[in-house]
Amino acid sequence: MITDVRGRDLITTQDWSVEELETLFAAAKHLKLQQAMGEPHPLLRDKVLTMLFFFSSTRTRASFEAGMAQLGGHAMFMEAKSTQISHGDTAKEIGDILGRYTSGLAIRNVDWGVGNNYIREVAKASRVPVLNMQCDRYHPFQALADVMTIMEKKGDPRHLTLDVSYAHAASYQKPISVAQSLVLLATRFGMKVRLARPPEFALEEDIMAQAAANARASGGTLDVVESFEDGLGGADVVYAKSWGALTTVSEEESADISGRYTNWMVDAERLAMADPKAIYMHPLPADRNLEVSDEVIDGSHSVVYDQAENRLHVQKAAMALTM
Ligand code: CP
Repeated sequence: MITDVRGRDLITTQDWSVEELETLFAAAKHLKLQQAMGEPHPLLRDKVLTMLFFFSSTRTRASFEAGMAQLGGHAMFMEAKSTQISHGDTAKEIGDILGRYTSGLAIRNVDWGVGNNYIREVAKASRVPVLNMQCDRYHPFQALADVMTIMEKKGDPRHLTLDVSYAHAASYQKPISVAQSLVLLATRFGMKVRLARPPEFALEEDIMAQAAANARASGGTLDVVESFEDGLGGADVVYAKSWGALTTVSEEESADISGRYTNWMVDAERLAMADPKAIYMHPLPADRNLEVSDEVIDGSHSVVYDQAENRLHVQKAAMALTM
């Protein structure tokens, strides 16, 4: 069923019905084909998207900006640190004022306990759709690209086993939002989701409760295991990445806890525990040879480049449908 989502925000996929998400996937597939055919699709001609970043990005910035240009519009890049936000512009002011200048507001703010509230405050004040480019709790466009990729590579996602696993990293305390959004979206689509993580790396309780309810409604499952190998066993999709422990208060404390789990890494030997046709996924950037060996991320099971490409298509679909 195709549904109309004009004017809607996308802050978490939980705010959209399954039918609305299916509409987004159908639009993404359509736009991807149009691009492959070289068929112009200027659905947002003369429209401008504000992209406001409080945190660094490669893929998200590039794919929103390229996507908006391909749709015939323009994406305006802003960083909080080089605007008057650093001198006091409030979320309400940003939502109300930038909503009068542009046709959509996309925001990345991953500050723990701040980001999601900030985006929701902006959305309350904005007259145009607000899109979450990643907050402390959710990374909806990453999860949408992930599920689109799973559907392309493995067909109907219902009853596929998805291993969403913690993996060790040392670069920085990565947001928990990728794992949370993926668990939430995969359970909407009937997948058998296996969350593998050490005890210190639990997801937020209310996210787990929502994901369990999603699984009950869709006919999927949600299980938690505390061993890396138990997560991998027979999985159709291996998605292992690092995130920070909820209880930590500093990078030092996080590094200390994460240092207990340096063996939580996908290498060829471990990947062999998954289904022989399993795909390996990571949202990138990866800590190579900590989260995953070069051999695996560059190997035949890896779909990380197709996964990154699909960010473009799902985001174009969301912009075209909402703006
Ligand atoms: N996966 C992802 O969001 O990448 P960036 O942080 O580079 O945008």
